[in-house]
Order: sequence, then structure tokens, then C-alpha cells
Amino acid sequence: MWGGRFSSSPSALMEAINASIDFDKRLASEDIQGSIAHSAMLAKRGIIAESDRDAIQQGLQRVLGEIESGSFTFSTALEDIHMNVESRLREIAGDPAARLHTARSRNDQVAVDVRLWVRNAHDRADEQITNLIKVLLDKAEQHAGTVMPGFTHLQGAQPVTFGHHLMAYVEMFGRDRGRFRDSRVRLNESPLGAGALAGTSFPIDRHMTAKALGFDGPTRNSLDSVSDRDSLLEFMSAAAICAVHLSRLAEEIVIWMSAPFGFVRLPDRWTTGSSMMPQKRNPDAAELVRGKTGRIFGSLMSLLTVMKGLPLAYAKDTQEDKEPLFDAADTLEIVLAAMTGMVQDLEPVPGRMAAVAGAGYSTATDLADWLVRSLNIPFRDAHHITGRIVSEAEKRGTSLEDLALDVMQAVEPKIHKGIYEVLSVENSVRSRTSFGGTSPVRVTEQIAWWRERV
Ligand code: ARG
Repeated sequence: MWGGRFSSSPSALMEAINASIDFDKRLASEDIQGSIAHSAMLAKRGIIAESDRDAIQQGLQRVLGEIESGSFTFSTALEDIHMNVESRLREIAGDPAARLHTARSRNDQVAVDVRLWVRNAHDRADEQITNLIKVLLDKAEQHAGTVMPGFTHLQGAQPVTFGHHLMAYVEMFGRDRGRFRDSRVRLNESPLGAGALAGTSFPIDRHMTAKALGFDGPTRNSLDSVSDRDSLLEFMSAAAICAVHLSRLAEEIVIWMSAPFGFVRLPDRWTTGSSMMPQKRNPDAAELVRGKTGRIFGSLMSLLTVMKGLPLAYAKDTQEDKEPLFDAADTLEIVLAAMTGMVQDLEPVPGRMAAVAGAGYSTATDLADWLVRSLNIPFRDAHHITGRIVSEAEKRGTSLEDLALDVMQAVEPKIHKGIYEVLSVENSVRSRTSFGGTSPVRVTEQIAWWRERV
């Protein structure tokens, strides 16, 4: 492609370090889409003949067909997808193919290719997160009133509902989806036509190619257009945060499935056995969702490091954007799909969750609140009185619900039997009616709010 200036071909090692075709062949369809838009614009602006445009476009369609059917032979000597496609196009279409690269550089070509690719990746993530939210909503709806223990410090804290707990993840994944949507708006400008770095003297129409490729318009600065990759960084950042959320839910599934908890069952299809211990059923899919988070973080960190300190404009370092991008996107795709399947198949064990929810004096806050409400005792004092009552219950090995009234009255004489109304986990949960709270009425409202957004 640039033989004119060179007297010998690259060394084998140069070829090995330089070639990107093994991974950037995934940009084939975006590359061809970009070239079709570019050639249409060149003809429209009278830069190439319409007959050349037609030969180029028919040839590109054939190349795409060959790549899709697997009959295309990729060549490492041709470095990357751009030159592999163009070289084959030359074989198919002859001389007109040599006019395609007028007013274009591989620098703006690759920039537009990765933008198109990452835009699709945003749309896939959006769709998959929406599906995950939908299955969470269905599960939450079935269990809006299913009591479970709520934790802080992983110590039993206050009873909540399983539906409420799942809705917490809906909020997280909803924000994740929002991040992908925000980033998609920002990336939707076309770098095509920026040339190698400075633009071109040909009378091109960047608005035309931008429109043809579904962009809102062309990017405004040619140096920036060819040299930045922040649209990829934003995708990977959003993916990394989403992976954090997925890993937290995955970890909870692992905990819930363990025998001491026994809060949920997961059908065999999401688990594996042990080659040595016949009794085992391991939550491997959840563990892998948790574990694959590392790959997504690693990809993000890797591209951040590649981009850091790069002088303007294009430098070959940027070629290192693709493998982390593809790996982050592939990983996100499979973990989102696996999590969606697991949530769908998750079977909570309400009896077990309710039993644990009631243990550990989880309604002590309700007792203290009752002292404030019914006896007008200041909260700090009520907290102290409740602490003493809990310790009496503990001494007797009984729950608060089963603690005799006279024992409570020995701590605070004004206590009367009305107190028992607030001591059951069901009543505790039902009473948490503040906006966003765990009461089934509030959870049902949260579900309805999200139903309108999926
Ligand atoms: N394969 C290259 C990349 O991914 C294409 C751009 C090459 N540009 C150049 N000036 N060598 O960045």
C-alpha cells in the first residue's frame, strides 16, 4: 500500500508486532459500511465517477459476503482489516478500487470503525440490561411481601422483603443502563473525513457520511477525531461499573445458596458437581459472573494506560484499543446473559428466610420506635431501654415476641401489651412505609415505576 517509499519489506518480527488482523477482523462489517458511505459521498461530490462508486460498492458487498461465509483469506502481511478488505476489493473491482481511499486515511477509517462497533455494543448492553431488569421485576413482584433478613455488616439488621432486595439491584442496573445511554449520545459523532490528522483539501461532505452512518453529525476537530478513544473508555467504564453490580448480586447468590443460609435454590442447570465430593452442588455460574469482573476491570485499565500521555494526533499505540474493547464487550455480554438466566430460575425459600429474619432480635428498632411513638420517650433513651430488654430476652433464650410483659415492664413500667403488635417481622416490614422503604405497598410502587421504563 505504500511500496513507493520503501526498498525492503518488513522483518518478520515487525510484521508480528504490527499486524492487528487477528483481532480487528471483527471490524469487517463496520469497515465496509464506512467505505460504502465514503464512496457514495466521493461520487456525490464529483471526486470519483459514479461508475467507480458502483464498482467499489458492488465489490465491497462481495467482500462482505466472503467474510461472512468464511471463504475470505485474511493475510497478516496486509496488517489490518482495512488493508485486507481494500486489497481484496482491488482483486475484485480492479482500478476503481484504487480510488476508494481518496480523501481518507486509515486513521479516520479506524476511528469510525471502532465508533460504529462500540455504538452497537452500547445498544446490545442496553437491551441486555433491560432484559435483566425485566426478570428482576417479575421476581420482585412475586416476592414483594416475602420477608427476608436485611443485613448491615452482613449481620442481621432489620427484616426486609425479597422483592425490595431485588429492586435495589433494579436501581443499580437502571443507572448502568443510563450510563450506556449517556455515553452513546456523546459518541454519536462521525470522525470520518478527519483524514490522517488535518482534514483534506478534497471537497468532501462530512455531514453526508455522518448521516449515512447514523451519526448526529461530524466531529468538529480532525486532530481529536483520529486520536482519542474516550468513547471506548466510557463504554468500558460503564461496563466495569455494571460488572461491579453484577458481581455483588452474584456474591449474594453464592451466599444465599450456601447451606448455612439456604435462602434460595438454583436449578441444576446453573450449577456443577465436584469430581471428589459427591454431595456437592456448586454455584459456578454465579462465581464466574463474580470472577469475570476482573477481565472487564483489566480491559478498562489497559486502555486507560495505553491512552495516557499519548501526544496528538494518531499514534500506533491506539491499535491496542481493540482487544480490551472486544474482551470487555464479550465478557459483559455473557455475564449479563448468565445473570438474567439465573435470576429467572432463582427459587427463594420463604420459610427459611422468614426464620432467619426473625432471629437475632431484628425487630428491636421497632420496639424502640414504639417506645418513642406510644410513650413519648426520647429516641436515645428508647434505644437504651430496648437494649436492656434485648439483653433480658437473651438471658432467657427467648425472642422479643415471646418475652413476657412483666419482664419488659421491669425495665420500663409504662410499657403495655400494645407493644406486641410491632414485634413480628411481618408487621415490622409492613410498617416501613416511608418513600423507598421495604413495606410491600412501597415495593409495589417501585416495581410499577420501573415497569414504565422497560
Ligand atoms: N490498524 C490501525 C489501528 O488500529 C489502523 C490505523 C493505521 N494507521 C497508521 N497510520 N498506521 O490503529
